[in-house]
Amino acid sequence: KQGGSDAAKRAAGEAAAETAEDGMVIGLGTGSTAAHAIRAIGRQVDAGLDVVGVPTSFQSRELARTAGIPLADLDEVTVDLAIDGADEVAGGDLVKGGGAAHAREKIVDASADRFLVVADPTKMAETLSYPVPLEVLPAARTTVAESVRELGGDPDLRRAERKDGPVVTDNGNLVLDCAFGEIADPAALAADLATLPGVVEHGLFVDVADAVYVGSEDGVTVREL
Ligand code: A5P
Repeated sequence: KQGGSDAAKRAAGEAAAETAEDGMVIGLGTGSTAAHAIRAIGRQVDAGLDVVGVPTSFQSRELARTAGIPLADLDEVTVDLAIDGADEVAGGDLVKGGGAAHAREKIVDASADRFLVVADPTKMAETLSYPVPLEVLPAARTTVAESVRELGGDPDLRRAERKDGPVVTDNGNLVLDCAFGEIADPAALAADLATLPGVVEHGLFVDVADAVYVGSEDGVTVREL
């Protein structure tokens, strides 16, 4: 989804960033909504907040550096709080990976003691139906696509906008966007996708989030999960 207004994204990101506390290790999500949280944490660091960030992508690492947030990786620290966006949210389940960062996002977000999703109202749905991104090893793109069709999905190799060719992830892999229509049982689909050889990670985040911060021009609604 394109997402809602920048003001709504900002409200969600900044409210989630307010939960940062001295001494925390914070997982820094990817995308335009999480970027607001990263900038807000950077301002708090400027004002004396003592935290360490763990980036989820090239983009969030660059942004965090610019914002002055000290960084570490998961070999050195464990994550207390993660703040990350989503492409679609239904109940406690998410589709992520619109920015092709879902593999590292899932590693960081799932490892956090508390994972806050930051979203705007356009992301909220009754049932997930957003195409599920699969990060696949380049050698597996055809076999995985065939398996996705057998599971009832419609796979589409993600192509770069400013390059003649595919999107290549931060990990050097390809992305198949797989439309399944309405996903009645996200946990079952997640289990099926996880077994396919060559799938590095899929974008279904089932029962990983702890709360959803939905921003709007009028404020923020927090839903604990
Ligand atoms: C990155 O791969 C995604 O999972 C993002 O977190 C997701 O696309 C949300 O991005 P926006 O906040 O820009 O909509």
